[in-house]
Amino acid sequence: MTDYPNSIRLSVAPMMDWTDSHCRVFHRILAPQARLYTEMVHARAVIQGDRPRLLGFDASEHPVALQLGGSDPAHLAEACRIAEGFGYDEINLNVGCPSDRVQAGRFGACLMKEPALVAECVAAMRGATRLPVTVKCRLGVDEHEDYGYFRAFIDAVAAAGCREFIVHARKAWLNGLSPKENREIPPLRYDWAYRLKAERPDLRIVLNGGLTETAQCDEALRHVDGVMIGRAAYHEPYRLHQMQCALFGTPEADRESLLRRMEPYVRAQLQRGVALKHISKCLLGLYHGQPGGRLFRQVLSQEAPLPGADWSVIEKALAATRIGGDRM
Ligand SMILES: Cc1cc2nc3c(=O)[nH]c(=O)nc-3n(C[C@H](O)[C@H](O)[C@H](O)COP(=O)(O)O)c2cc1C
Repeated sequence: MTDYPNSIRLSVAPMMDWTDSHCRVFHRILAPQARLYTEMVHARAVIQGDRPRLLGFDASEHPVALQLGGSDPAHLAEACRIAEGFGYDEINLNVGCPSDRVQAGRFGACLMKEPALVAECVAAMRGATRLPVTVKCRLGVDEHEDYGYFRAFIDAVAAAGCREFIVHARKAWLNGLSPKENREIPPLRYDWAYRLKAERPDLRIVLNGGLTETAQCDEALRHVDGVMIGRAAYHEPYRLHQMQCALFGTPEADRESLLRRMEPYVRAQLQRGVALKHISKCLLGLYHGQPGGRLFRQVLSQEAPLPGADWSVIEKALAATRIGGDRM
């Protein structure tokens, strides 16, 4: 299993509807030493919902962190106890999601306004599990947008025992911007994350937001402990592989051989009745920018949803990349 502390250098962001277990299995093949995060799961769902469906994961995914949403310390603590039993390596608290639904439930990014409550949540979570409890946050929300406020937030939560923060290095506007706009419009301020690390070297700081190139990651790692990649890893999975190789000094493999390593998993899932389309969606961008990339995507998106679709669809998509032609 990958060394957990070292995996901090590179992680793949939690992304709702994207980083499900199938996707994480693929990302693990691409990036054997990275830390992977689940989609956010609300603490109440963990307690009341279908646990195997919500929390189950493949053994190959380690090191994998469960991201929880919520703001009730007792619920979060109970969810941590349950998650520990499932074998997660870390529990992360979401203090960054700006959607209306999340705000109405008083969790996610709006918690940036309630550092004392976040501290209480972290203390309760730490009391319930021996796993590391980490926090993923923004730089601020709404009118709270000075470095001093951000720093005070971190200090309050660190005082409750959180040693590691993933900083999505932009603020969120809770009124007026959609979640998508909140990932694009507020400007990135990497310097705030760097300053935080310089002022609090005792904390482990992971930088997130807008990192797409290996060179950017190298630069960030001169200042902070890790980088977290979201959309670039999903839309162009081969970039994630290149980042793994550059950051951990491992040899690069070609796209086809990486994809072929998915075959036993895909076959096993199909046997269990999982439809190919649920697995193949995370593969669509593998040949992004390559000859035949458009055809690869087209074959997968048109044929994976058909009844009875199996591994032969992936073979057909691979054959399309050998014919070459277009790029996308
Ligand atoms: C489709 C989608 C779903 C997301 N879901 C979550 C989530 O469940 N929890 C979370 O903390 N952040 C979520 N995010 C935000 C990402 O984790 C990340 O912070 C953001 O995309 C910025 O990183 P990037 O520029 O590398 O994509 C989501 C982002 C996307 C694109």
